[in-house]
Amino acid sequence: MKHSQTGPTFVLHLAGQPKLRVYHIFFLTSLLSLLSLFGFQWFNGTPPSEMAHIAARCQSLSIAAGPPTTFNPSHRIKQGSDRHVVGTQATLILNARIWTGADNGTEVIYGDLLLDKGLVLAVGSISSDLLATVQKTSGTIQTVDMHGKWVTPGLVDLHSHIGLSSAPSLRGAADTNSRKAPILPWLRSIDGLNTHDASYELAVAGGVTTAQILPGSANNIGGQSFLIKLRPTSERSAISKVLEPPKTLVANQTSDHLHWRHMKHACGENPDSVYSQSRMDAAWNFRQAYEAARKVKESQDAFCARVQKIQRKRWWPWSSQQVFEGEFPEDLQWESLVDVLRGRVKLSIHCYEAVDLDAIIRLSNEFKFPIASLHHAGETYLVPDLLKKAWGGVPSIALFASNARKKREAYRNSEFAPKVLADSGIPVVMKSDHPVLNSRYLLYEAQQAHYYGLDAALALASVTSTPAKAAGVDHRIGFITPGYDADVVIWDSHPLALGATPLQVYIDGIAQIVKPHALVKPERLQKVPKTPNWDREAQQAVEYEGEPPLRGRIVRLPTSTAKKVVKFVGVKSVWMRDDNGHVHALFDEDKERTEGRTVVILDGSVLFCGEGDEHGPCSGELFDEVIDLQGGSLAPGLTTFGSPIGLVEIRLEASTTDGVVIDPLTEGKVPGIVGGDDTIIRAVDGLQFEGRNTLLAYRAGVTQAITAPLANGFLAGLSATIDTGASSAVQKGAVIQDETALHISISLNLGISVSTQIATLRRLLNNSTSEAWTRVRTGAIPLVVNVDSADVMATLLNLKAEYEVSSSNTLRLTFSGAAEAHLLADEIGKAGVSVILTSPRPYPGYWEERRFLPGPPLSRDSTLTALLARNVNVAVGVRDEFNARNTRFDIAWAALESNGTIGKAQAIALATTHLERALGSRSVHDLVIYLGGSIFDLESKVVGVVSLQRGTVEIF
Ligand SMILES: *[C@@H]1O[C@H](CO)[C@@H](O)[C@H](O)[C@H]1NC(C)=O
Ligand SMILES: *[C@@H]1O[C@H](CO)[C@@H](O)[C@H](O)[C@H]1NC(C)=O
Ligand SMILES: *[C@@H]1O[C@H](CO)[C@@H](O)[C@H](O)[C@H]1NC(C)=O
Ligand SMILES: *[C@@H]1O[C@H](CO)[C@@H](O)[C@H](O)[C@H]1NC(C)=O
Repeated sequence: MKHSQTGPTFVLHLAGQPKLRVYHIFFLTSLLSLLSLFGFQWFNGTPPSEMAHIAARCQSLSIAAGPPTTFNPSHRIKQGSDRHVVGTQATLILNARIWTGADNGTEVIYGDLLLDKGLVLAVGSISSDLLATVQKTSGTIQTVDMHGKWVTPGLVDLHSHIGLSSAPSLRGAADTNSRKAPILPWLRSIDGLNTHDASYELAVAGGVTTAQILPGSANNIGGQSFLIKLRPTSERSAISKVLEPPKTLVANQTSDHLHWRHMKHACGENPDSVYSQSRMDAAWNFRQAYEAARKVKESQDAFCARVQKIQRKRWWPWSSQQVFEGEFPEDLQWESLVDVLRGRVKLSIHCYEAVDLDAIIRLSNEFKFPIASLHHAGETYLVPDLLKKAWGGVPSIALFASNARKKREAYRNSEFAPKVLADSGIPVVMKSDHPVLNSRYLLYEAQQAHYYGLDAALALASVTSTPAKAAGVDHRIGFITPGYDADVVIWDSHPLALGATPLQVYIDGIAQIVKPHALVKPERLQKVPKTPNWDREAQQAVEYEGEPPLRGRIVRLPTSTAKKVVKFVGVKSVWMRDDNGHVHALFDEDKERTEGRTVVILDGSVLFCGEGDEHGPCSGELFDEVIDLQGGSLAPGLTTFGSPIGLVEIRLEASTTDGVVIDPLTEGKVPGIVGGDDTIIRAVDGLQFEGRNTLLAYRAGVTQAITAPLANGFLAGLSATIDTGASSAVQKGAVIQDETALHISISLNLGISVSTQIATLRRLLNNSTSEAWTRVRTGAIPLVVNVDSADVMATLLNLKAEYEVSSSNTLRLTFSGAAEAHLLADEIGKAGVSVILTSPRPYPGYWEERRFLPGPPLSRDSTLTALLARNVNVAVGVRDEFNARNTRFDIAWAALESNGTIGKAQAIALATTHLERALGSRSVHDLVIYLGGSIFDLESKVVGVVSLQRGTVEIF
């Protein structure tokens, strides 16, 4: 600091007048004191500019972050938004159902919405005077009539790595984590923000308008995060995206208040594995860092106390040494953490387990800092009272809906956590962790939370107002209120209805989708889904600490006597499959709930009771079980493919899995004792039953899985088809087919050339002596190639043709993954190749997927519809085992996205007959019982599975 060098000169000057008379001194000091009122502080020995600077600096320590107390949305209307883009047309949205976020998310206004100058100007009934004024100042108003469509605030994704973990993922833009040390509060996510990430446009197309860009979780303190608006800016810079940039980021900011700062911390497995440290080490990392920050803070406070003392003394003429010694204590590395201690940072802490939550909450009390939000936070629902002990108030809890169990600390995650936490009065946020989940489908997380019991108002708030509040920006986003940012989304259905898709998205009043492809949605999706009752399941999730029993009650179906039968009443729709590979509706009353019909399960068969069937099996006395489905449905059990379900329990805990096969192409020799490089591994030899993902899938109507060996390289092995409800491999029918198909991957990401992979395939196809290849060669089993690039698919189509000409055999070829398959839809169709889309809502995660088809509203077609239009046998699968349970939502969503071109029977076929055809698998015909709705909606719940093969009905 300059003052410490120049100070002594002034001391000498004052001290050099000892002979002055008292009244002189009195007169002089009084004058100086008076002048000091006007900012002249040179009497005290430090240059006035420095003095003012230091005083202001000290004073600023007590400024709270957030909007100034005088902040008022109606004042903003006069000025326009700081983000207003000159030239933006005013927009009038007519006849909308506007969910405003007000009244705890219960307010819905039927009316109009006026956007101008980057702000919401008016909501509801808009006066012609106001319209005239806007027209005068802003020119023509763009008017859109929404005919009663739903409108919400733009979605706020509280946990995103957009721009850091970019799409497509490339070595040159991997800026999510520094791996230099566990404690790095001085790093800033904005410094790594890739402005060319393909995800911005996609997230916006899903209605997400603002996201918090968090550094990754490789460090205990990974650095500072920032909120950005996701729209492109004319400046094209990273900084121009930042919402309310803090002073520390934009040096010349002149505002009289401090914007909130944001920071990321992480506990648990991620940082511990990167730094080979234990939880104890992590806790010490935090305490050491906070102690360093506390020391800086205390010396600042002590320094400023001295400044204050001197400033007070300046009124007294006899005070002598009016000089500051030393510099304002500052440390660029710790200043952000000092601001945490000053309560000016919204902390986002990645923390799963009770043990970690406890440590972090003790830390907050030891060093006295508030926690804005706890993220992932899988076990928070088990410890609500602990959360309430956090210093400075209970944090918001940012959750996934159903993404769980991939690592140990996520094993006890529960789909009921949002409901349980909300019941304890704890604010719930749903987040994407983009690209872990595609931010574009953030709303799906809220839909699932609602499905599993979170109140509708809180579910909508969980992706709008609650995250806005947790990030300290609820004075301008997260609500639709006059004076708020004009970030709004118009939806094609109720936002909590499955598949809700934006018709248009406005950010700062600017329409973001240039040419939206609108879907036509059924009327029943325009209202809040009437979700099932999960009270028992939610209570059990807590009681069993995240490991509730998942088996149901078994009712044996009689084989000889017709004495015991199971009868369902109130059945509204029944879907069945026949032996020719077709799914059809036995009845489907797609009307308002009628009483429904009666179905009887007897003697290994399903019987539909007509009116007047009072005798025989339909009559009153014979039943062991009578279950009222309340307008429910019976549908075929679905099949899942694409994940290692049945081979892994906790994917990242090797000791809970079958393990990864050795790939002779990319990893070296397969040991001779195994049989050498031509050995083909069979998934059937590594099966595990009754895993949680498996049983959760089963309980969600997915009764079969086709699972290939877990592989990271070229060669996987033979898949098996299993019954997800079986209890062990020795149970009759547990393994439906022990060798289903042969699986390989061909990818630009394998670390060996694609041409080498193709050469290997050609050799194996022509010359491998192994029995599996012999069967592939003759078309006895399909060859399933995991492939995304259209160029690789083209090469494979050529190879298939070449092979078939030379061998006169037919190669049964299936592409799985197949992100770019639509580019070759015609050729794939003509070659009779099946396609399994393991990402039915695709994302260009890698270069070889970058030419994917985004689907509505960005394109008319989806990959699925493009392939179906060319008569390709298309099926859907999953990549992650946790997602197997969501198969019925995936097929329902695919049908909705097809704009009516995929009927209900065909939608079921996508995860049954089409999939089995693509993989050459056998099927047993299970029936799944849905209560309160159909297989396709967020209103029904699986309450049982009829396994004719096992001769049981399992009732949940
Ligand atoms: C919103 O909810 C809170 C907490 O449950 C309650 O205290 C408050 O009165 C509610 N406000 C409105 C407007 O309903
Ligand atoms: C300084 O602030 C002004 C006004 O906010 C802004 O226009 C200008 O770009 C800023 N300069 C820099 C270097 O950030
Ligand atoms: C490999 O297969 C090709 C084509 O079927 C055949 O012509 C060739 O003789 C085979 N080579 C060996 C070593 O078996
Ligand atoms: C859906 O169908 C409607 C009516 O047939 C049509 O206007 C609209 O363009 C279609 N949208 C898409 C995405 O195909």
